[in-house]
Amino acid sequence: TNRSIAIICGSLRKDSYNRKLMNLISEKAPDHWTVSEIQIETLPFYNADIEAEGDPESVHMLKEAIGHADGVIVVTPEYNSGTPAVLKNALDWASRPVKTTVLKQKPFAIAGASPGGAGSAHSQNQVRQTLLTLDAYTMPGPKLLVSAVHQKLNDEQTALNDEGTVRRVEKFVTSFDAWINHFN
Ligand code: FNR
Repeated sequence: TNRSIAIICGSLRKDSYNRKLMNLISEKAPDHWTVSEIQIETLPFYNADIEAEGDPESVHMLKEAIGHADGVIVVTPEYNSGTPAVLKNALDWASRPVKTTVLKQKPFAIAGASPGGAGSAHSQNQVRQTLLTLDAYTMPGPKLLVSAVHQKLNDEQTALNDEGTVRRVEKFVTSFDAWINHFN
């Protein structure tokens, strides 16, 4: 069965390690997946007054993309032991209105990378908690945490090529495919 998978990167910077992890996930995706990135950079900060005037185009596109996806992968950095505001903001917009949120019963998987030792664990836990609140179906495991990510790049520093990481990414996407199948 063909699967359309949406992917969100929680870092906006060009040379982001998490973007490199996102690229590796896309590269190792099963052949029957179509992976497309959801842009979160242009979302306004959540504001109920803006919402009351009707969703801005960027919010509309976010909800459409999540709503139509068979599964969503969130790739998150860790900022001060938490989730970057730009990513939390996207999840908050997507959560609205709570009664009909596109997050409800949506299969999710969470990944992340950091140069430090924890590999985005705290941030991933916060994303997991947020998704739990919204009744998303987040894959419990295998978890994908890439620690010391700066040491796992190719010589050109353009891509993640560490063997163990590549193997874990392959297992992660295969497992998420099976996770999605549980609900279809
Ligand atoms: C960080 N960084 C960081 N790393 C970590 O493992 N735990 C943390 O709590 C934090 N805190 C933190 C706060 C702020 C404001 C910044 C800017 C950074 C370091 C972070 O992991 C590093 O900058 C990564 O490179 C960010 O991910 P991208 O942009 O490379 O994907």
